[in-house]
This record gives sequence, structure tokens and C-alpha cells, in this order.
Amino acid sequence: MAQCCIHPSILSADFVNLEAELRKISSADAVHVDVMDNHFVPNLTIGLPVVERIQEISRLPLDAHLMIADPDRWAPAYADAGLDSVTFHVEAAAAPVRLARELRKRGAKAGMALKPGTAVEPYLDLLPEMDMLLIMTVEPGFGGQAFLDVTLPKIRRAASAIAGSGLPVAIQVDGGVTEETIQRAAEAGANVFVAGSAVYGAEDPDAAISALRKSAET
Ligand code: DX5
Ligand code: ZN
Repeated sequence: MAQCCIHPSILSADFVNLEAELRKISSADAVHVDVMDNHFVPNLTIGLPVVERIQEISRLPLDAHLMIADPDRWAPAYADAGLDSVTFHVEAAAAPVRLARELRKRGAKAGMALKPGTAVEPYLDLLPEMDMLLIMTVEPGFGGQAFLDVTLPKIRRAASAIAGSGLPVAIQVDGGVTEETIQRAAEAGANVFVAGSAVYGAEDPDAAISALRKSAET
């Protein structure tokens, strides 16, 4: 998994022109879709009907990041919609292993997300049930925040546990990813990078993606 994956977040895109916004990121590896319910995080975005439509029109795989309460109840429907991966927060899930199995059974990759203040150690034993570990590098809820360097040791510890186990679990980082911070995250062991403002805030989003890719690989 040395290859670097860039997943632009459409949180920073124009929600009224999503089809055109998706065309601007054709060189991305997947589209990161942030679902917020105003309970788990203090912000509200889009829900299942809109995500289903994005899935229908997108040529790229969709990577849903569910920042919602009670993912045990709501996440399986996102897998049913045909998304490539569905990531839920461990802080919100009542039964993360059961939920991950449910997502995989429905054909999606299962992702487990941790807020910056959530330790990874209690969840390492669950990794055989997961395809991806999302380590938040900002407090979830808003785009455009600064990357939290305090999360780097956690990325390192997770990467070394995953490497030691030989499990094919990707490490995604999300929040404050720029051409500069992506280097530190990659060096710590992350291999999937979400970027919202760094991609959609750029004049040429596809050029920003290739700059991020290059930066992660150096
Ligand atoms: C924040 C979201 C992120 C957000 C990242 O809670 O999960 O995906 O879009 O935005 P940037 O890259 O601007 O920090
Ligand atoms: Zn996200």
C-alpha cells in the first residue's frame, strides 16, 4: 500500500453544482463524501438521498465519512447504495464489529474513524474486521481547519501495528491536509489522504491533486 491515494472532499465544493465539481477532480482516486447530522458533530451536510444521486452520476468510487450518531442504524443503507467504502466513527458505534460485518456483507469496504482525542490502542484488535482506519487530523465538523500535529504519533503507532499484523488495512487521514502537512502524514504511515480546501480552494483542482500526490511521495 505504498501507493498514495487522494480523496478530495466535496465539503469544500459547490453543492449546487456537484456534477460540474466532480468533473474537476477526474484524477482523484475516490470522492470523499462527508455526512454530518448536527448531533455527532455541530454541523449538517447531506444525507442518503443526495449521496445516492452522487453515486449515480460519479465516475469515481465514493468514500463516505459518516459523522453521525447511531451509525449502527444508518450506515448499512450507504453500503446498499453501492458506495465503495463506508466509514463510521467508533465514538458513535454501539457494535463496531457487527456494523463492519454488515457493511462488508452489503459489498462496501468498512472504515473505522477516530477523532483526534480518541486513542487507537483499544481498537487495534478490531482491525481484522476493517478495510480502513480513518485518523482524523482535525476535530470533525468543518473544512478549512489546521492540521493537528499531535495526531502524528497515533498515525505512527497505527501504521506500525498494521505493518506488524500484515493486515491489508489502509490508513486514511482527514483534515488540514495540504502540500506541506501531507508529507508529515505520509511519513508517519498514512496512505489515503482526504483534502477539501486544498483541492477545491485551488484554481485547478486536478493540478492540486497531482501536487498533493507528488508531495506525499517525496
Ligand atoms: C471535516 C471533514 C473533512 C473536511 C476536510 O470534518 O471530515 O473531510 O472536508 O476539509 P479540509 O481538507 O479543508 O480540512
Ligand atoms: Zn471527512
